[in-house]
Amino acid sequence: MTAPIRENLAGLDLRAEIERLRKERNAVILAHYYQKPEIQDLADFVGDSLELSRKAADTDADVIAFCGVKFMAETAKILSPEKIVILPDMDAGCSLEDSCPPEQFKRFREKHPDHIALTYINCSAAVKALSDIIVTSSSAEMIISQIPPEQKIIFGPDRHLGGYLNRKFGRDMLLWPGVCIVHEAFSETELLKLKAQHPGAPVAAHPECPPHIVDHADYVGSTSGILQFAKTFPSDTLIVATEPHIIHQMELAIPEKTFIGAPGADGNCNCNICPYMALNTMEKLYFALRDLQPRIEMDEELRLAARKSLDRMLDMASGTVGKGDLGRA
Ligand code: 13P
Ligand code: SF4
Repeated sequence: MTAPIRENLAGLDLRAEIERLRKERNAVILAHYYQKPEIQDLADFVGDSLELSRKAADTDADVIAFCGVKFMAETAKILSPEKIVILPDMDAGCSLEDSCPPEQFKRFREKHPDHIALTYINCSAAVKALSDIIVTSSSAEMIISQIPPEQKIIFGPDRHLGGYLNRKFGRDMLLWPGVCIVHEAFSETELLKLKAQHPGAPVAAHPECPPHIVDHADYVGSTSGILQFAKTFPSDTLIVATEPHIIHQMELAIPEKTFIGAPGADGNCNCNICPYMALNTMEKLYFALRDLQPRIEMDEELRLAARKSLDRMLDMASGTVGKGDLGRA
């Protein structure tokens, strides 16, 4: 999608203008931990995918300005259809979503009619509509532990998260072959060098990392789990194997500790900055609030179909679904 030509904003106090528009529009600004620090700093709420979904479902605002990627903004629209949901840059996608076209996912499902589809939230609304239960990295363990061991499962689109869950829970889920290009870029060789330079520093890793990274981690969890670990671990240095913008929240919360981003292949490639998340800027957020564009629009039939699997996650993650309720949607 080509960005519209916009006027020059030189001289405008963007922060103040965003503040003004937020009030005028009765908007809430939600930001993921992988957003640039200046966006995290002005957001009403910064969180992981599950927390952001819950906020999107609960807010009284008329407008949700979603500073994250498209599947997250779509989730907000699925849960709050009456609200205007804007995404500063509609090209902010995700390699996991791209890896899983709905027609191919449908054929995969059809080949395995006795399996339920447990699907990572990093996918399109159409793939959510083809799924039974959505998970995020912070709800996945709670949800999988509620599924009877004899129930066959297909898991997509992240093969690393699926593989991690298989190993941890002794499951044999069939895995869709998608990966996150950001977490895939961490280098085991460079990580081991970094660990040798900082003996005693624990490693916290996101489960989207491949096994050769996760195997060296002292803690594996979602972005909010990693942040919580950062607040509680006893040593003064932590190696962080996820998108490095999360370090901003760690430095705000625990300024006396040192946080080091895990390295990519040449030790300093910046290849673990998410290129999709990075598309959102203060300028684009300002335009989005001013013009209420780009806006997420969704066909109502698709929305309702996608909502079922998301509601299942929200219910199961809050413990309101019994084991007998599980099975294909
Ligand atoms: P969480 O914030 O839910 O851990 O997910 C990370 C992610 O991949 C966002 O794209
Ligand atoms: Fe997708 Fe990875 Fe970027 Fe998250 S970090 S939005 S999973 S590409």
